[in-house]
Amino acid sequence: MTTTDDFVHVFVPATVPDGPTVLLLHGTGADEEDLLPLGRTLAPGAALLSPRGKVDENGMNRWFRRLREGVFDVEDLIRRSAELAGFVSAAAHTYDLDPDRIVACGFSNGANIGAALLLLHPGLVSGAALFAGGAPLQGREPDRVDLSGTRVFLGSGVADPITPIDQARLLAAQLRERGAQVRESEHSGGHQLDPQVLEQARSWFTHM
Ligand code: MLT
Repeated sequence: MTTTDDFVHVFVPATVPDGPTVLLLHGTGADEEDLLPLGRTLAPGAALLSPRGKVDENGMNRWFRRLREGVFDVEDLIRRSAELAGFVSAAAHTYDLDPDRIVACGFSNGANIGAALLLLHPGLVSGAALFAGGAPLQGREPDRVDLSGTRVFLGSGVADPITPIDQARLLAAQLRERGAQVRESEHSGGHQLDPQVLEQARSWFTHM
């Protein structure tokens, strides 16, 4: 059984009542500190739960293995999604969080594992804001899970060379087909956090 000790992580308690908990999922090469400012911007005063990905790729932290850029080890992704889901449930217990109000927020590799949490562990998070992420299971069709009631914000760059925009649109379609309420926000740039997209995400978060 996974416990909170299984992942290096930061937990920042809420400073305002009634907010969600934001589960921060960093990109390749970053760590648990990286997205804390983003969490504070998107959901001021909310509790922040920020673990560190356990895969070491030439000294860079990641959430799951890849065979090369853009080609994922899907079996590893599935296994590590389950482990991360166990951590989130354990943290909800340890830190006395409302398990129905955990919202994932991920960038790049973190967005991809966040998408895997949605598709493989429905109900674990009530929503997700995913930036520069795509369809994580690649060639595989995800199971027909029920995501009604789950809200998702997808921020993507039409010129992203790492996560092609078609992958982000495929993820949006997979989530919608399973009943999720998806808001897509596309910008003209690449693999980055776009200021206008972030502003839209901030307003999206006020309803979480
Ligand atoms: C991934 O491997 O998840 C994506 O290609 C993004 C990246 O981390 O470079």
